[in-house]
This record gives sequence, C-alpha cells and structure tokens, in this order.
Amino acid sequence: MSIDTSKRQPKNVLVTGAAGFIGSNLVHYLLKRWPDASIVSLDALTYAGNLANLKDLDDVPRHRFVHGNICDRETVSTLLDQDIDTVINAAAHTHVDRSLLGADDFAGTNVGGVQVFLDAIKQRPHIRFVQISTDEVYGSQAPGEDADENYRLTPRNPYSATKTGGDLVALAFHHSFDLDVVITRCCNNYGPYQYPEKMIPLFITNLFENKQVPLYGDGLHARQWIHVDDHSAAIARVAESGRSGEVYNITSGKGMTNKEMTAKLLAITGKDESLIKYVTDRPGHDRRYAIDDRKIRTELGWSPVVDFDEGIKQTVQWFVDHKSWWEPIKSGQYRKYYEEQYGKRVEQ
Ligand SMILES: NC(=O)c1ccc[n+]([C@@H]2O[C@H](COP(=O)([O-])OP(=O)(O)OC[C@H]3O[C@@H](n4cnc5c(N)ncnc54)[C@H](O)[C@@H]3O)[C@@H](O)[C@H]2O)c1
Repeated sequence: MSIDTSKRQPKNVLVTGAAGFIGSNLVHYLLKRWPDASIVSLDALTYAGNLANLKDLDDVPRHRFVHGNICDRETVSTLLDQDIDTVINAAAHTHVDRSLLGADDFAGTNVGGVQVFLDAIKQRPHIRFVQISTDEVYGSQAPGEDADENYRLTPRNPYSATKTGGDLVALAFHHSFDLDVVITRCCNNYGPYQYPEKMIPLFITNLFENKQVPLYGDGLHARQWIHVDDHSAAIARVAESGRSGEVYNITSGKGMTNKEMTAKLLAITGKDESLIKYVTDRPGHDRRYAIDDRKIRTELGWSPVVDFDEGIKQTVQWFVDHKSWWEPIKSGQYRKYYEEQYGKRVEQ
C-alpha cells in the first residue's frame, strides 16, 4: 500500500490538554513536524496541567497558550472561529485511582467535553477532530490475546468507561453528521513531564528520594509501554492521513509486568528490592492490556523508533536533570510555585 503523508497539512491546530504530559510533548513535537503551522494550546490547568511544560515556547510566535475549559461552549466556539482546521483533543481526567474516588470530572470532561467540541464542529465541518483515546477502552486481554480496533469495548473502571463514552460520542457524530473524526488508542506512555502520580514518574522520583515504591497486588499486571515521542508521531500521522471515522491503535508492542518495570527502574537508579512495597490491589484492576496496531503500521506507515531500554534510561535522566520541575509538585509547593512563576490561579 502506498503511503500518502502529504494528504493533509494542518495549518492552524488546536491542541487541548496541552499543559499535561502528552499534550505538552505533542505540542513540542508538532511545532517541529509542521513548520508552517500555528498551534493554540488550550488547557484548564487542573492539578495535572502545568505551564512549566510549555515555558520554553513563550517566545515562539507560532504558539500561544489559552487558559480555558473544553466543556465551555463559548471558549470552544471562539477558538474554533480563529481559522482552526485541526483539533487534537488530549484534554482529559486521566488517573484511574482518582476516578475510583469520584468520577464527575471524568464524565464531564472525557464525555461531555468531546460532545461540546463536536456540537461546535457541526457548524464548522471543515475541521478535523482527532480524539486521543486509550487501550484501556478494550478492558483486559487474556494471555496471548491482542485487541485490534474491532475488539469488544469492555472498560472496567470509571476512567476507561468515560474514555469509551468519549470515543462513542465522537464516532456517533461522524456517522450522524459526517464530521471528520479520527480516534487513536494508545498503550501506556512514558517520557518527560509526566505528572508524578503515575507509575513511572512516581517510582523514579520515590527511588531518588530513597522512598518505597507501591506495587499493586502481586505486581503481575501487564502493560505495553511506548515513548511519548513515538505516540506524538503516530498522532501526527493520523491527523495527516488517517481515514475519517476510523480508529487506530498505537503501541510499541513492548509489554511487561509492573514488577518487571519496577526491576528496570531499580536497576537504572541503582536501588534494590527492599524499596518495593506491595500494597492492596486497586479495585477492578485490569490484569493485562495488549493491543494489535497493524492497521496504523500498514495503512499509514507509522512505526515506533525509540528503543525501550534507551528511552527509559533517558526518562530517568530527565527526572534527574529536572528536580526543579517535580519537587514542587511532590512537596505540595506546586500551587505556590505556580502562582509566583506565572501569577495565575490553579483550578482544583
Ligand atoms: N498517559 C498515558 O499513558 C496515556 C496512554 C494512552 C492515552 N492517553 C490519553 O492521552 C490524553 C492525555 O493524557 P495525559 O497522560 O497527558 O494526561 P494528563 O493528566 O497529564 O493531562 C491532561 C491535561 O488535560 C487538562 N484538562 C483536564 N480537563 C480539562 C478540561 N475540561 N479542559 C481543558 N483541559 C483539561 C489537564 O489540565 C491536563 O493538563 C488523555 O486523553 C488520555 O486518556 C494517555
């Protein structure tokens, strides 16, 4: 199959959730990949959004940041009227543990926010909407089984259920109104700027501080791990050349148990197993995520380039070099630090 990467060249792009982990890495990546494009970064600056992730872009004329909520119709309409041709929706509430404590924000943003965008795009059908989703919508796979894009949707926690809701709303608007919608479903990401409540940055930074790392249950839950830059490249490829109404899985194919990941992090940081603390398993914890991404590889010619061992070492090094980024977050000084640095309020 021939690959047409020049099918669409986005010129005015709106990236939502742009102050979060994937959003901020994506914005950096897209500014390089699309040298003629202007990018608007939208983020509500929840606890997970951090303007420090975009600070080096302050003087880049092709980029600007807007503080706003994707559930706010006026904000969305105003931004879309500024010549936007492509929306990449990475705004979401993302932490499974938090969704178990309360899922209002998850439903509001992960489902409602998608609907707000698509309602607005109904009036502006030239806009392509790229919905960033997750392998978690497929629920758990049995050993040896990989989920392709036609696999049953069986999310089993409030986070993944609301992500599934967002996907279904997006597909429904494509079918009902012929809107230009594409969906990506990626495996677990690692890399710079990941909020240190998630496993990899939490474990790396705890190990630096000689604190124990909490491993759920028997530690044998399996996940696939991809470097965030490979994810960004896949999203760009889908935005350029993905077929409207389609879903594209994205994975490195690099699967391992949480225990194996912990062993790698212990080895890289030079710590030993005494720092592992087995804790009560998360309720409804999915045992294994494993997806099949042959569609994006054969149809769009994407494949990951970052070697896992190299990528994870670089990520550990990034956290070594960026203590000033994560220490204020972990110590609870982040809000104060943020207000001093940027003079803005942080939403709860
Ligand atoms: N991190 C992963 O491993 C992974 C894997 C696959 C898919 N995804 C998906 O990628 C997307 C981004 O994930 P992440 O890991 O970067 O999450 P994150 O929590 O680091 O970032 C989410 C960002 O969205 C912003 N946000 C939340 N609600 C908002 C709203 N209503 N309006 C505007 N901004 C809002 C937050 O302030 C934050 O900056 C999510 O949709 C997630 O489901 C993540």
